[in-house]
Amino acid sequence: MKWKKIGNILILDKNNNYNYNNLKQIAQKHHVKTIIKINKIHGNKRQPQIQILYGEDTQTIHKENKCLFKLDLSQVMWSKGNTNERLRIAQLVKDNETIIDMFAGIGYFSIPIAVHANPQKIHSIEINPNSYKYLKENIKLNKINNINPILGDCKEITPHYKADRIIMGYIKTTHHYLKTAINSLNKNGTIHYHETAPEKLIPTRPLNRIKKSTNRKFKILNIQKIKKYSPGIYHIVIDAQFD
Ligand SMILES: C[S@@+](CC[C@H](N)C(=O)[O-])C[C@H]1O[C@@H](n2cnc3c(N)ncnc32)[C@H](O)[C@@H]1O
Repeated sequence: MKWKKIGNILILDKNNNYNYNNLKQIAQKHHVKTIIKINKIHGNKRQPQIQILYGEDTQTIHKENKCLFKLDLSQVMWSKGNTNERLRIAQLVKDNETIIDMFAGIGYFSIPIAVHANPQKIHSIEINPNSYKYLKENIKLNKINNINPILGDCKEITPHYKADRIIMGYIKTTHHYLKTAINSLNKNGTIHYHETAPEKLIPTRPLNRIKKSTNRKFKILNIQKIKKYSPGIYHIVIDAQFD
């Protein structure tokens, strides 16, 4: 049986059929209150469509890398495959940086940065009101005082700020936001640009997309596969520093 545990909720693989009579025993064995399947993640707001197999409560607190994340799995997504990336970014942040987290969600990157590093400010922008609600709760839960949570579209809000580091932790259409991000970067600032790319187009396609978005000179600090997204397609992140 394939499964993931988020807080005290078990997520079973959507492609398997289960013996529903066993679910109570499975819940007891894994010490969870609820068991769900996630059938799909919808649209740009990344809203899950779930099926509850056992129990009823879909809100939980998940602990990862010494951070607490409160979330409702019927409203917002959680990607276990991004665990290392969430910590990697936090470890790159230098003291007193200003950061923009363009696709902040419930604080996937903002919270670990605030917990493990010492930035001056993190402007965390999120378009989905449900995720924004949990972003604010997670700021309180982790006793953080340097995150500025903002509800809205990062394309409109990012130009109001300047930053030393901009996190673009979103996939599929992230390249449409490159120009906006680079225009808000301070001298020597870094973007962490995510995309899903077919293996044979790594790194040419993302690099060309960055080049096309700006006249500023940049150097690539790192190119990394985060996880396999679908057959032949990888979720990757590029760290690029701009003059
Ligand atoms: C779910 S996160 C990606 C997962 C995350 N990188 C992780 O570590 O698990 C992406 C977030 O971007 C938000 N989003 C999408 N378009 C946006 C926009 N234009 N402005 C601000 N937030 C946006 C979505 O609502 C979603 O919460």
